[in-house]
Amino acid sequence: KSNAMWGGRFAAGPDAIMEAINASIDFDKRLASQDIAGSRAHALMLSKQGIITDTDAEAIREGLLTVLSEIEAGEFTFSTALEDIHMNVEARLKEIIGDAAGRLHTARSRNDQVATDFKLWTRDQFDAAISDVEALIRALIAQAEEGADWVMPGFTHLQTAQPVTWGHHMMAYVEMLGRDLSRFKDARARMNESPLGSAALAGTGFPIDRHMTAEALGFDRPTANSLDAVADRDFALEFLSCASICAMHLSRFAEELVIWSSAQFRFVTLSDRFSTGSSIMPQKKNPDAAELIRAKIGRIFGANVALMTVMKGLPLAYSKDMQEDKEQVFDAADNLMLALAAMTGMVSDMTANIDNLRAAAASGFSTATDLADWLVREAGLPFRDAHHVTGALVAMAEKKGCDLPDLTLEDMNSVHEAITEGVYDVLTVENSVASRTSYGGTAPAQVRAQIKRWKEVLG
Ligand code: ARG
Repeated sequence: KSNAMWGGRFAAGPDAIMEAINASIDFDKRLASQDIAGSRAHALMLSKQGIITDTDAEAIREGLLTVLSEIEAGEFTFSTALEDIHMNVEARLKEIIGDAAGRLHTARSRNDQVATDFKLWTRDQFDAAISDVEALIRALIAQAEEGADWVMPGFTHLQTAQPVTWGHHMMAYVEMLGRDLSRFKDARARMNESPLGSAALAGTGFPIDRHMTAEALGFDRPTANSLDAVADRDFALEFLSCASICAMHLSRFAEELVIWSSAQFRFVTLSDRFSTGSSIMPQKKNPDAAELIRAKIGRIFGANVALMTVMKGLPLAYSKDMQEDKEQVFDAADNLMLALAAMTGMVSDMTANIDNLRAAAASGFSTATDLADWLVREAGLPFRDAHHVTGALVAMAEKKGCDLPDLTLEDMNSVHEAITEGVYDVLTVENSVASRTSYGGTAPAQVRAQIKRWKEVLG
């Protein structure tokens, strides 16, 4: 039999394969509460504008609440033949309230309806991302505060570079996530316009009030162009791109945690709550949560590329291709929130192994730059010459199998006669980090200043 919603011009129903490729109900049922909120706002507006009667609007609005409670209670039977959430809800509404249900779709199309539903859903994900990123930032700040002056190696090329502080390293991630936060907030503000009332693409001749429905649904204003409104998925793409960058940050940290928790590094001990064991090797404690965060990021990047690809060839306005938007965003949002929660848990629970961090910071000639800087400051050498002299001292220490502070003054003077006892002061890792007081530098005082600033920002 032909379709109840648009069967007027159809003699035959769809092929089973047509139904299978066309139906979206298996996934867009996640939009049920947004769909019903949108319809309730629309019905009220139609009656306020005298387009439908108050009695019909009341029946529609009440009936929709019944549908919602059925869905929430798991008592609703979703039908693939009814394609999507919009038609499933409307068909059930008709069973409950009768013919008045048919008046709900006045001055509306599924095109503006789905854009509205999906925007409402995505808006909630922006809000969730904002609060979840904030929670992670708070966990990092707590670590930074505790370890503002714990010394650890800073790396470039994953080779020991210069000593830094634990607090400085934690706060580096706070800066990264802070940019994520501001990206999510920017995009959230930009996307908050209501497509409802754009109808199929051209607007409508009914005297609707789009400002009223926009306000009822918490939008700042209605969208200004009906063609754009039904064709736009920028809000989903912005969510996915903000999510991708944030996920990339999480993945970098996850990678560090995997390295840091290894037996070779032992920089951190992850809590039992965020580790797993091995079924064969009794000694194992694996950083699975970090590894899965690192891996899940691929799905989020994938969703971003997938939806960009769906959208790139579409002429205005709506095309059915756009139905492929939802699963990507659903999956990306679910996995981003999971990754953020897991990272927050790991960061809150992890213990820094302060002695190992300090020992690692002191190895690998990490204060060589301090020595070169000393030669510039105290012996007046040009930096390039100081670099050369220090390089020779590193080579000497390497040959002797010792660290820079273990070289005697005699050893040092055999390379450069201007070196005095005072040089040993700058060779300790504590003095090295304490000296890096430039704005944003690793000195504990600088790190504490940034912690203070961030606490004020977060309130
Ligand atoms: N299920 C559709 C989607 O997700 C709803 C809009 C259908 N519109 C249409 N003209 N067929 O995009």
